[in-house]
Amino acid sequence: MITARGLARTFKTRTATVEAVRGLDLDVAAGEIVGLLGPNGAGKTTTQRMLATLLAPTAGTATVAGCDLRADPVGVRRQLGYVSQAGGTNPGAKVDEELITQGQLYGLTAATAATRARALCASLDLADLGDRIIGKLSGGQRRRLDIALGLVHQPKLVFLDEPSTGLDPHSRANLWSHIRGLRDQAGATILLTTHYLDEADALCDRIFIIDHGVIVASGTPAELKRRISGDLVTFEVDDVERATAVLRDHPEARDVTAVERGLRVTVDRGEAQALPLMRALDDAGVKVGSLHIAHPSLDDVFLTLTGRSLRE
Ligand SMILES: Nc1ncnc2c1ncn2[C@@H]1O[C@H](COP(=O)(O)OP(=O)(O)OP(=O)(O)O)[C@@H](O)[C@H]1O
Ligand SMILES: [Mg+2]
Repeated sequence: MITARGLARTFKTRTATVEAVRGLDLDVAAGEIVGLLGPNGAGKTTTQRMLATLLAPTAGTATVAGCDLRADPVGVRRQLGYVSQAGGTNPGAKVDEELITQGQLYGLTAATAATRARALCASLDLADLGDRIIGKLSGGQRRRLDIALGLVHQPKLVFLDEPSTGLDPHSRANLWSHIRGLRDQAGATILLTTHYLDEADALCDRIFIIDHGVIVASGTPAELKRRISGDLVTFEVDDVERATAVLRDHPEARDVTAVERGLRVTVDRGEAQALPLMRALDDAGVKVGSLHIAHPSLDDVFLTLTGRSLRE
């Protein structure tokens, strides 16, 4: 459904050149839910905007829904539903009107558009808001409307840029089941971006982790978690610098990383290794406030690959 090779985009501002995306290879099969996961500024939105024909790549090629990105942008757009990060609703219009107009823009009759609008509103908890002026909706309600607008023409390929930002836990769970339904019932292919590891973990068949415009890892959530073998031991210490030096020299500790008020290491058996490591720190005069043993999460994968936590 999507094949991209060497996709890149550079922005030139007056003072700097920003390499937002630096040579991305991406393959997405029909019927997959694929996530682009990365921190602010990683290049997620830029990647989606290029694949949606809204932004010209500075280099690279891509085929999206069977159409060449450069040669047939109209073909791409016709099959795509794109929900941008910022949204794009008309604040003066009513919810129903906006959905029906959007459907008509994609060639639906007013009657079909109205039927789809009603179904989407019901499924996205917007059913009572049809008569409301968009400008007066709450942030989460507007976000759900953004999503409905991207889906009204029943696209085979759906791009969602941080769909759940601003949604409360109930609406988030509801959106997740809606997204799963798009794939399971309507057979859609979905490319979404998110900062939320739990969202990527719960929803995506495959994940591309992006940082500074390049893919640093990809795979199923389980494969990515497996890439971190061993357990993670986190120490809260009074002297991170000295503790880091001690553990870097320790034969059992791998991937020593500074975290808030302490550091984190990977060891083969957390329960067996935590005490010897603590003793080594104590011998060096480092005070350990607390220690925590954990099995890896996707966040740990990210931390190990990039040295930064996604939650920061
Ligand atoms: N039009 C532009 N002009 C200059 N720089 C830009 C432009 N658009 C994006 N950038 C820069 O490109 C980089 C990638 O931006 P992008 O919006 O793709 O990140 P993102 O991964 O979507 O981040 P976020 O999680 O904050 O949405 C950032 O450094 C951003 O400032
Ligand atoms: Mg973005």
